[in-house]
Amino acid sequence: MNKLTVQDVDLKGKKVIMRADFNVPLDNQRNTTDTRRIQAVLPTMQYILKQKPAKLILMSHLGRPKGEVIEDDRLTPVAKELKKLLGEDVLKLNDCIGDEVKAAIKNSSERVILLENLRFHKGETKNDPEFSKQLASLADIYVNDAFGTAHRAHASTEGITHYLTSVAGFLLKKELDFLGKAIHNPEKPFVVVLGGAKVSDKILLIENLIKKADAIIIGGGMAYTFLKSQGENVGNSICENDKLELAKDLLEKAKKSRVDIALPTDHVIVKNFEKPEEKRTVDKIPNGWLAVDIGPKTCAAFKEILSKAKTVVWNGPMGVFENDAFAKGTREIAEYLAGLKNVTTIIGGGDSAAAVTKFGLDSKMTHISTGGGASLELLEGKELPGIVALTDQEKVCRK
Ligand code: 3PG
Repeated sequence: MNKLTVQDVDLKGKKVIMRADFNVPLDNQRNTTDTRRIQAVLPTMQYILKQKPAKLILMSHLGRPKGEVIEDDRLTPVAKELKKLLGEDVLKLNDCIGDEVKAAIKNSSERVILLENLRFHKGETKNDPEFSKQLASLADIYVNDAFGTAHRAHASTEGITHYLTSVAGFLLKKELDFLGKAIHNPEKPFVVVLGGAKVSDKILLIENLIKKADAIIIGGGMAYTFLKSQGENVGNSICENDKLELAKDLLEKAKKSRVDIALPTDHVIVKNFEKPEEKRTVDKIPNGWLAVDIGPKTCAAFKEILSKAKTVVWNGPMGVFENDAFAKGTREIAEYLAGLKNVTTIIGGGDSAAAVTKFGLDSKMTHISTGGGASLELLEGKELPGIVALTDQEKVCRK
């Protein structure tokens, strides 16, 4: 990465504003149910605090409040979690810009301040220069460690970099090191495991990976569009009928590039999601039934391909893993990856990360991305605006 990082700049006595991705799930009582994204930026926050800054001002979005104050989207539960993790008081403000915010920062006895949800202002997602300027006016230097939001050109990720020296935090750097290496310089054989519901979400990803991977394993709902494009009966399984030609083209492209694409050869099927006890395993899906997981023969074939890999990137579950009755295929692939020795295993964010965590295998993977959309766009070969905007290494620090 040719961008400045927190380690390249002097933070002593400075007001440091840091963008994090604290967009974490909350339960009905507004308690955080998964704090991985908060924990992932702890090393950067701790490093900054060790440099004795005047203040560490944290900012994030939560949900999609679309420029309005939504009580349920306040960052109060995140402040509670931060206090626990950092072991010090965190002042949570009720807004993120304006004179009151400035005064509160100036007069606070706390070193750590959490601004209110950025998306309560329309200027955030619109990347409004005036809003960006107001955020920038709160601090002397900007740190971006919000990998999960790096694919958004918003005021707090892109706009603000026009007004302050802008450096990357450790999480951003780590994500780029792992995902970037996998895409640009993977140790071979490089195997990609894809799943999830829709082919349409992964078209660019598949097109990019066909140029890089040695094999692509496809499970989950999207496999049924590919199977139908090859003339197989998929019953009531999820299938994008308007993407059949595209699926066929992708398979042909892969063949031309000599990339093996592996599709399920047997399936766990049900007639009705509500009646998992009636599930069956079949090679051919009869009419009236739908696939909810890969079958044992498929699992074995996928593992055989994975046994040869030196680098694996996994994006998307193999079935409806949220329901334990349909989680076996996803679990077996996760367990197999967890057991591989001397293999780099990278889990794209979103559902695959949730699956690996659900099975308690997170510590066994080389890297679990904290970004769903961001890691997908990186794997599609796109540049992420939040990263492009940071100050280049060769530029002399302005502050
Ligand atoms: C995410 O959860 O993927 C990020 O926080 C980005 O959220 P968004 O899709 O609402 O921009």
